[in-house]
Amino acid sequence: MNKKHFSDKFYEKYGNRNEKPVLFFSPGRVNLIGEHTDYNGGYVFPCALNYGTYLLIRKTEGNKLKFSTLNFDHDEETTIDGLFKNTGKTWINYPLGVINEFLKRGKKISGLELLYYGDVPNGAGLSSSASIEIVTAVALNELFNAGFTTLELVKMGQLAENEFVGMNCGIMDQFAVGFGKKDHAIFLNCDTLDYENVPVILDDFSLIITNTNKRRGLTGSKYNERRAECEKAVELLQAYKPIRNLSELVTGDLDVLEKYISDPVVRRRAKHVISENGRVIEAVKVLKENNIKRFGELMNLSHDSLKDDYEVTGTELDTLVYEGRKLPGVIGTRMTGAGFGGCTVSIVLKEEAENFMIKLAKAYTIKTGLVPDFYQPEIGNGAGKLQY
Ligand code: GLA
Repeated sequence: MNKKHFSDKFYEKYGNRNEKPVLFFSPGRVNLIGEHTDYNGGYVFPCALNYGTYLLIRKTEGNKLKFSTLNFDHDEETTIDGLFKNTGKTWINYPLGVINEFLKRGKKISGLELLYYGDVPNGAGLSSSASIEIVTAVALNELFNAGFTTLELVKMGQLAENEFVGMNCGIMDQFAVGFGKKDHAIFLNCDTLDYENVPVILDDFSLIITNTNKRRGLTGSKYNERRAECEKAVELLQAYKPIRNLSELVTGDLDVLEKYISDPVVRRRAKHVISENGRVIEAVKVLKENNIKRFGELMNLSHDSLKDDYEVTGTELDTLVYEGRKLPGVIGTRMTGAGFGGCTVSIVLKEEAENFMIKLAKAYTIKTGLVPDFYQPEIGNGAGKLQY
């Protein structure tokens, strides 16, 4: 990211070189393990990336909001007079949803000029949307001295996504991009929001993200379908224990599912959530013991469960994962994010990384006709202001 080029673009767009805009950054995230557990009150283990969304922002007189991005040829202008309504399928809904959260809490927002640039691929399961939400929230908080805590901003980002954009996501993504810490993953309990930063020291191994480059179509509706199935499971399991969510059960309870849930689909959904929570707890423990091999095995088991029990993978993700596992030096590989497309995350022996990317790309293209992209990210910090 060339900050000079970015600010030149800002001035080209909005003029007035005498008033310097302020620069903010919010990362994307990759979830190492703990998938589809957040909205079930369970554990997740994501980390922030050194890829994300940059925002240059400047206050203006009046009540005009001017949005622009270097990613697409799409500018939009609107005025603040009351709360906003969803403007249809455009990326502006993410910042507008966040601005609404500020307005709802009685904060006055003046005119603004905003220029975004994202280097995390869109819609690829790396939280490009949470990244836009949180970079906007952090910037508004600072520019208007709103005084919200990071946790409040994270929750406002999630509300923007749930209520304004209409995607009923859990809290993991906004939390990870808000609270990320360099070289650490976040072991988060999504029920209590207690968390611990756990060092990710991979020594001889590297983290590789592979993008299927498959367009995700039905993610939203399938996602909501899974949520409903989990709610159904909770309802049925009330006869066993008075639980509020599936994560109140532990792996020792798996045996009772058969008795209380007759629908095999709903039963498998519950099995995934309960077993995945168990895997996250063990994964954090073995990572602390520097047992990367077992961590990788747990990643593999997580994917298998997401494929067989939760059914959110699909040909493209499965091809990357199962072809990847055949290659030398692959310790663990799984889908990350909501699924149905998007990315996988793999831990690969450093000296095999190059070979992994070449061989996997070949095998994937032969089987799917698609060309994957690879990223070797660093684990970065959460959202904040940048100097330039
Ligand atoms: C998406 C959602 C998250 C989480 C994951 C699945 O990324 O935004 O809240 O549910 O899917 O783990």
